[in-house]
Parts: sequence; C-alpha cells; structure tokens
Amino acid sequence: MKKKIIICNWKLNGDKKFIKNFINKLNKYSKLYNNYIISISPPIIYMDYTRKLIKNKNIYLTSQNVDINIQGSFTGDISAKMLKDIYTKYIIIGHSERKIYHKENNKILLKKIIITKKLNMIPIICIGENLNEYKLKISKKICKNQLKYLIRKKGINIIKNSIIAYEPIWSIGTGKNANIKHISKINKSIKKYLINKDINIKNKFKIIYGGSINKINANKIINNKNIDGLLIGKSSLNLKEFINIIKNINNN
Ligand code: PGA
Repeated sequence: MKKKIIICNWKLNGDKKFIKNFINKLNKYSKLYNNYIISISPPIIYMDYTRKLIKNKNIYLTSQNVDINIQGSFTGDISAKMLKDIYTKYIIIGHSERKIYHKENNKILLKKIIITKKLNMIPIICIGENLNEYKLKISKKICKNQLKYLIRKKGINIIKNSIIAYEPIWSIGTGKNANIKHISKINKSIKKYLINKDINIKNKFKIIYGGSINKINANKIINNKNIDGLLIGKSSLNLKEFINIIKNINNN
C-alpha cells in the first residue's frame, strides 16, 4: 500500500452531466496524479456509469456504503457482492454521517468490514472525535477506542489491508480543518498503537485524513509523513477546486 490515496466522497450529490464532465477532465489530467491513487465515490446509483467513463488505471471506484447481507429480502439495500460485480475497490464504512443519520453502531460497522474484506475489497474505516472530545483533548483516546472494539472482536487482522480515515466530526463540512500538527500526532499514535499490537501489521494499512480539505491545505496535509492520503467531500464536488488540489500537491 505504497501510493498515497485521494478519495472523492460525493455523498448525495451529482448527476450524470456533472459526473461525465468531472471524469472526462480527470482522464485528461492523468499526468497530474501518476504518483497517487484517486478513487471516486459517487452515489451508488451512478457507480457503474462513473466506472465506464474512467480511462485511467490510477482511478478507482469507492462505495459510500454496503449492506451487512450478501443477498436476500432486504429491500433497498446494496450488497458487497453487487459492488464487487461492478469493480468497486474501496468501501467507506462508518462515516459519521451514517452513524448520525442511520444509527450505525460498532456491531454493524464490524459486520460491514468483515463482508467487505471477505469479497477482497478494501474497507475505509472512519474514526474521529466530536468537538467536545476535541476540546477535552481526548481525541487520541476516542480514536483508539473506536478501533479497539474491532480488534477485540476480530483481532488485529481486521486492520490488515484496510484504510483508516481519521475524520474529526467537527471538521466535516464545516470549513475548519484540523491543523497539521494535530492530524500528524493522531495518525502517528494510531499507527504506533496498531504496530504495538502486532509488528506484522506494519505497512499493511493506511491512515488518511478527511475534513474540510481544500486547495490551500491539501498539499501540506497529504505530504506529511504520517498521513497516507485524503478523504475529500465538498472540494471534490467543485471540479476547478479539485483540479487545483491535485495540481498543488504535485508541484510540491
Ligand atoms: P468535507 O467532507 O471535505 O466536506 O469536510 C469530508 C468527508 O465527509 O469525508
């Protein structure tokens, strides 16, 4: 898992016109992100459409969600098998918006991670503290506790070949990114915590950052040695801003 990764999380936004324009432009600018992996996470209904437009081997497909069941009578749900069928590579699991609006708890998240890995896709496991916890300076503890549950239930291998997305809840969609020192400190301590559990896990997972990334802060954050990539929401919905992000990080 060497290359740093940039995930574009479009959430509940976009339509065919936007997607066609965005991916065509990205195809054209392929030289800018040769050193990175880019993965697009459109609303599930547009995933296959998006995939068919992609003409670059550095661009992959990420799902914003997955169901805990593989198939059956579960109206409205999408399974890991279906996502695999359309060549999805990554699945975002436990985004704070799903925890808030869909009451997803640790038990559900664990099931989603297991099913994702079973089908050889890569889970992007979201962790992060809320504003109160940040102010109380307990971010590290909160993040570790979120991972602790998974490890206690399934062992350290649950982290192997996964991506952990450190996303402070207070930073998502607010325009307030966490400062580089804070992110670097949290990521470093999580890496250390996991490697202490099992040295064999070293270099077998990534820790990325998400929360109000823009063309100004992206460069510094992605180039920090403790940060393996970015999860970008709002700024990935603005083609000009996103192209500027990849231009800036490349000119480093
Ligand atoms: P944001 O979203 O970049 O709009 O803050 C990040 C995310 O939700 O992953």
